[in-house]
Amino acid sequence: MSTAVITGATSGIGKAFAEKLAESGHNIIIISRKQESADKTEAELKNKYSVNVSSIVADPGAHEGLYRIYGKLEKENDIEFLVHAAGYGTTGNVEELEPDLLENQIYLHDTAATLLARAVIPGMVKRGKGRIIFISSLAAFMTTADFTVYSATKVFLNMLSKGLKVELAGTNVKTLAVCPGLVKTDFWNNGYFDDSDYTKAPESYWLSPEEVADESLAFIEKRNKPVMIAGRSNRAFVGFLNIPLIGTAANALMMSSSEKKAAKKRFSENPE
Ligand SMILES: NC(=O)c1ccc[n+]([C@@H]2O[C@H](COP(=O)([O-])OP(=O)(O)OC[C@H]3O[C@@H](n4cnc5c(N)ncnc54)[C@H](OP(=O)(O)O)[C@@H]3O)[C@@H](O)[C@H]2O)c1
Repeated sequence: MSTAVITGATSGIGKAFAEKLAESGHNIIIISRKQESADKTEAELKNKYSVNVSSIVADPGAHEGLYRIYGKLEKENDIEFLVHAAGYGTTGNVEELEPDLLENQIYLHDTAATLLARAVIPGMVKRGKGRIIFISSLAAFMTTADFTVYSATKVFLNMLSKGLKVELAGTNVKTLAVCPGLVKTDFWNNGYFDDSDYTKAPESYWLSPEEVADESLAFIEKRNKPVMIAGRSNRAFVGFLNIPLIGTAANALMMSSSEKKAAKKRFSENPE
């Protein structure tokens, strides 16, 4: 029986992956910062599926935690899946956000993705099978005021997946950066999005975490592409942005509306 390691496995998209992979017979290693959440998810999975479930309680967004996880994963000899779903959003211009928060977001999204992949790739290559999934975002395709560093961290994940795909050609170790738009999870409840336009989007724009996990797991098996946009309407949106001339105009319009919003905000904060 092979093993799936999942960060962010106690909630939202990560938890949906843990459920799907346990259902398909994989032993699960949960990575979580919180003992209580890890215990709860572990008990739920053990109750529902006949697989082994264990946890590493550590913060992949901190140097000590990440290296502890790295050391443990390096020694595992049957990891088939790595899903890096731990992550969070923020809103606010770069100049408004605390430096340690910016550093943490970049570390959790990107440094952790890189080192966790580094920890599992040699074993996957040796065994001739591996699947590495980074949860990126539709934000990687848009210029966003308020979301700048978040978007930039997700561009990194797409590029990381593309580069690893090239490095791992012929090994049966595949990488995939999954880019969802709006997904119904606790992501939106961390206080940063209380006044956000995103959370007011119509019901039809939202995916469930289960839909994201199902689509990603099917895609990584069937397709040989390193980046996937989750959801038909999101794919249509990005396709539209890539149409010559029309897409350039749409991008310019979005950029100009973002700039106007940022200028208005700056002016109302500093009317002098
Ligand atoms: N929801 C969306 O609309 C959406 C859209 C596009 C992309 N995404 C991406 O999807 C991924 C999963 O998010 P989600 O929607 O499933 O949200 P979620 O339900 O809030 O789950 C996020 C997980 O990340 C971990 N996490 C959160 N803040 C953290 C921090 N400061 N340091 C370390 N770990 C932290 C938590 O794990 P523990 O508490 O167990 O440690 C949590 O289980 C994220 O990378 C997010 O950027 C989400």
